[in-house]
Formats: sequence, structure tokens, C-alpha cells
Amino acid sequence: MKRSVAVWCVSAAAGAILAVIATPKRGEAAYKATCLNCHGDHGKGGMAGPDLIRSTITMHDEDGVGYGQYLKGDVHLKAVKLDLQMSQVADIAAYVHSRVVET
Ligand code: HEC
Repeated sequence: MKRSVAVWCVSAAAGAILAVIATPKRGEAAYKATCLNCHGDHGKGGMAGPDLIRSTITMHDEDGVGYGQYLKGDVHLKAVKLDLQMSQVADIAAYVHSRVVET
């Protein structure tokens, strides 16, 4: 009994750590599902939304915090209201940042 509690604690802690580390891979899937329609393939813009790779919002973003604020702000709300968890925003930001490095 004691042992299973210990195992549960360890896996719960590992899950919590994984949840706070944003990954570009998870972000890519979330980006495709949520942002691609407007911001285009790989964040290059071209549809309703502008290029995110060359965006100053992206450049000033750290770990999705700036993205989170921007997406909740009036300017973006005029385009779309998105219902995202902060962890998903962090993943998406990590994905876009990884694209900035690649391009
Ligand atoms: C319905 C279309 C739409 C969707 C979906 C959408 N956006 Fe946008 N986004 C826009 C438009 C339009 C603008 C330009 C707003 C303006 O400046 O007036 C914008 C602007 C932005 C900007 C600022 C770019 C800049 O430099 O000005 C960021 C960052 C951004 N979006 C991120 C996202 C992310 C991340 C997602 C997915 C979670 C997303 N958007 C989903 C339409 C969309």
C-alpha cells in the first residue's frame, strides 16, 4: 500500500514537470489545429493573419507569456476568440520560436 502511494507521487511529479516544459512538438499540433487557418503553414502568414516568424510580438514573447497576453487582448479578439490553456499557448509559442530559429 505504502509503495503504491510512493509510485503515484513520483509519476504525478513527473507529469507536473512535463506539463510545465513546453515542447515545440506538442505546439506544432496545437498550432495546426488552432492557428494555421489564419497564420498559414509554419507561421509564415498569408491567410487572414500576418507572418508570426517576423512578428515583434513573437520576438518579445518569453515562454508564451507575451502570446497569452496578446491573444487575450483587444486586437486579436477582433480576429478570433480562442479558448486555450496557458500550457497550450506556451507549447505553440515554443513551436513558433523553433521556426524562427530554423528560418
Ligand atoms: C481567425 C483568424 C485567426 C486565428 C485562428 C489566429 N489568428 Fe493570430 N491574428 C489574426 C489577425 C487578423 C491578426 C492581425 C491583428 C491586427 O494586427 O489587427 C493576428 C495577429 C497575431 C499576432 C501578432 C502578429 C503581429 O506581429 O502583429 C500573433 C502573435 C498571433 N496572431 C498569434 C496567433 C496564435 C498563436 C494563434 C493560434 C493560437 C492565432 N494567432 C490564431 C488572425 C487569427
